Amino acid sequence: MRLLVIGGGWFVGRAIVAAANGAGHEVTVFNRGRTPVELPASVRHVRGDRERESDLRRLAGAGPWDAAIDVPGVVPAQVRDAARHLATVVGQYMFVSTVSAYRDWPAVAVSEESTLHDAAPDANPDDWAWGTGVYGPLKAGAEAAVRREVGVERATIVRPGVILGPYEYGGRLTWWLRRAVRGGRIVAPGSPHRPIRPVDVRDLAAFIVKLAENGVPGVFNVAGPPGRDTFGDFLTACLTATGDRGTVTWVDDKWLQTHGVREWVELPLWRTAPGTWAIDTGRAGEAGLSCRPLRQTVSDTWSWMAAGGQPVELARQSMHGLDPERETALLAAWDEFLRNQR
Ligand SMILES: NC(=O)c1ccc[n+]([C@@H]2O[C@H](COP(=O)([O-])OP(=O)(O)OC[C@H]3O[C@@H](n4cnc5c(N)ncnc54)[C@H](OP(=O)(O)O)[C@@H]3O)[C@@H](O)[C@H]2O)c1
Repeated sequence: MRLLVIGGGWFVGRAIVAAANGAGHEVTVFNRGRTPVELPASVRHVRGDRERESDLRRLAGAGPWDAAIDVPGVVPAQVRDAARHLATVVGQYMFVSTVSAYRDWPAVAVSEESTLHDAAPDANPDDWAWGTGVYGPLKAGAEAAVRREVGVERATIVRPGVILGPYEYGGRLTWWLRRAVRGGRIVAPGSPHRPIRPVDVRDLAAFIVKLAENGVPGVFNVAGPPGRDTFGDFLTACLTATGDRGTVTWVDDKWLQTHGVREWVELPLWRTAPGTWAIDTGRAGEAGLSCRPLRQTVSDTWSWMAAGGQPVELARQSMHGLDPERETALLAAWDEFLRNQR
């Protein structure tokens, strides 16, 4: 097949390019070429900025493709413009969205039928930032733009939850691995039995390529398998991968909250909202999503880091993690709290 990957250089797109190329497809990537990436020799690179109409026109001239996979799109008007310029030269338009597009995630469980944020397919805010509550609404708007420009029968929307693996730049698993390698006593949030369902970036990529191969339209939530992994398994995997240098101290959710520890940010992947991991992924399972063991995601990511692997540098990476001094102070206060309970 002939596949176009819009993006392709940082994390998810990079894995999609590798999966598509590995499956023997003819791959074109479109990006500005700012991120140094060694592309396989057989991959064609069209340089351009999706925010420039002339570049989109030139891109369309390099087609046709069986499918375009728009990986990094967030701003609806930009996604709209790409879909509009490519509508006549691609079969399927695939868009990597997010579970944040659901209005009520993570407060409640979600399926593909759950209500989305109000969608504004032409929205074009020039000052938006990650994590300010606009990301979900923008992604919902971008999805609507894709559907409007190419029609639902040619639109494939993938809504992943948390994605981990080599090249992750969000700083979630990579933070926990760096924390594990530092050793000592580690604050672990809540309960080791809390379910957790991140998806490996390579499994997500293989699934997206499969949807392209099968020409499947529609919407697909993507997360790790339900009922398989827990936060305890995750931290054990981090410690095992890095040489068992630390011990975990499980600290009560409410106690952490009352001490101002910020969920999702200071202790990555910790979120107490009941819908966080309650994502219906049955449809993706039926369409061929297959998830490797979480411990493999963890150990492969550590192997990549230990070999000097560096993710692309973005501001939102430094958002994550607990300051070491604050962690020490929290552990001392927690010990004191437990002593007073006796
Ligand atoms: N991380 C998670 O846990 C998570 C969860 C759910 C959903 N998601 C979604 O997954 C996707 C992650 O994407 P990614 O960042 O890993 O994608 P990626 O395709 O690997 O990397 C982003 C690419 O976009 C290019 N790019 C940036 N601005 C551009 C522009 N104006 N014109 C052309 N190319 C441009 C960058 O290259 P240049 O800079 O060289 O142009 C880079 O190649 C996002 O859609 C995100 O919302 C992530």
